[in-house]
Amino acid sequence: MTVLSRLAGSNTHGQDSSYFLGWEEYEKNPFDESRNPNGMIQMGLAENQLCFDLLESWIAKNPDSANFKCNGQSVFRDLALFQDYHGLPQFKKAFVSYMSLLRGNKVTFDPSKLVLTAGATSANETLIFCLANPGEAVLIPTPYYPGFDRDLKWRTGAEIVPIKCSSYNNFKITKTALEEAYNSAKNQGLVVKAVLVTNPSNPLGTTLSKDEITLVLNFVSSKNMHLISDEIYAGTVFNSSSFTSVMEAITDKKWAHLLDRVHVVSSLSKDLGLPGFRVGAIYSNDPKVVSAATKMSSFGLVSAQTQHLLAGLLSDHKFMEKYITHNQARLKARQAMLVSGLKRAEINCLESNSGLFAWVDMRHLLKSRTFEAEMELWKDVLYEMKLNISPGSSCHCSEPGWFRVCFANMSDHTLDLAMQRVKSFLDSKINKNSHSYLKNSRRARSLSSWVFRLSFDDKEPEER
Ligand SMILES: Cc1ncc(COP(=O)(O)O)c(C=O)c1O
Repeated sequence: MTVLSRLAGSNTHGQDSSYFLGWEEYEKNPFDESRNPNGMIQMGLAENQLCFDLLESWIAKNPDSANFKCNGQSVFRDLALFQDYHGLPQFKKAFVSYMSLLRGNKVTFDPSKLVLTAGATSANETLIFCLANPGEAVLIPTPYYPGFDRDLKWRTGAEIVPIKCSSYNNFKITKTALEEAYNSAKNQGLVVKAVLVTNPSNPLGTTLSKDEITLVLNFVSSKNMHLISDEIYAGTVFNSSSFTSVMEAITDKKWAHLLDRVHVVSSLSKDLGLPGFRVGAIYSNDPKVVSAATKMSSFGLVSAQTQHLLAGLLSDHKFMEKYITHNQARLKARQAMLVSGLKRAEINCLESNSGLFAWVDMRHLLKSRTFEAEMELWKDVLYEMKLNISPGSSCHCSEPGWFRVCFANMSDHTLDLAMQRVKSFLDSKINKNSHSYLKNSRRARSLSSWVFRLSFDDKEPEER
């Protein structure tokens, strides 16, 4: 008798990708500045540790929130017993006002249309559960967050069909790519229920342009589909004028017919750096979706204690405005540090304006233009440079040689060290007097493979 159910035993969990394997390798030899300075540096984790000082000082100044109190009176018993899956009203009110603040107060949100979930992971799964039957499909632009393979497919039985974006236009969504994905789904006999975009994008670190949003809205409108916009990185946009939420876009009257079909996912895991608190949300104008998702949310509620603490924090508008500004400035400085550090090693990044990572172009370091070569290079980065970064193939990138590199989950000093490791490793490859690596290499690459610039870099796909 098999122990696991068909679903639990299936390989649709998506966790056997290099994205998760890299984490496992990191756990075997984690870097620590004093205890393990030669260990592996974790650059494959989109965590934001840049503003803990601000959050800690707010908590120190507002002890009621962390101490189960309200106006000095204990609310311990109320919180201990609270189990309404609609959530604490004061928290939902504070959450939607924070969502507005992040979007420059250009759009307002109604707390009754908000469903609380244990992080964006749960929000995304719940939305797919509500919108797609097992075997139906969701279209997602590539490259995309590797966790979607687990979150959207495993328990729901839904399928992901990639919208293949490529480097020739900086991975922008095009009409052709949307149509191709749709036709590919149809050819596989799949009913397509939704397009899911991540705005700002993980792993690109870029926001969707207004033109792209219009394109996607036109597409879902013409095909009678839903649009899910995962806006978990909304608070990481460090070029403040460059982010448009789909919720803002659909306030235009011409999209009135789409209001009920556009759903936003939100979370405090990235901008506030609180993934351990497990706070996410679905925002939808469709009462049927809100009602079904609310019932589903009992499988992943946010604890009342966490809601109480964060209600105080998020409703302190003065503090939150200050936090958002500082967070953006610190992320911007960090991203610049990573970009310039990589540039010193002659590695370029996609120009970005958001996120906790950069999308790094290492195509010129590949032995050949294949995903096998990408894996070989990744192993060198992992075991020789001792840096865990995420290969583009784990994000379903259609071109080998791109990697996601995170920059906000470490100190300045650690990032500096990581950049030194990259530079000295690559210098040792191109220094003609130093052939030790080449001699000892398992693969004994030729020098030319390390300096080979791929000739197809700047060509349109049709030309390749
Ligand atoms: C695009 C995207 N969606 C969802 C998640 C899951 O976030 P959470 O920790 O809120 O569940 C992540 C985490 O990295 C992500 O990058």
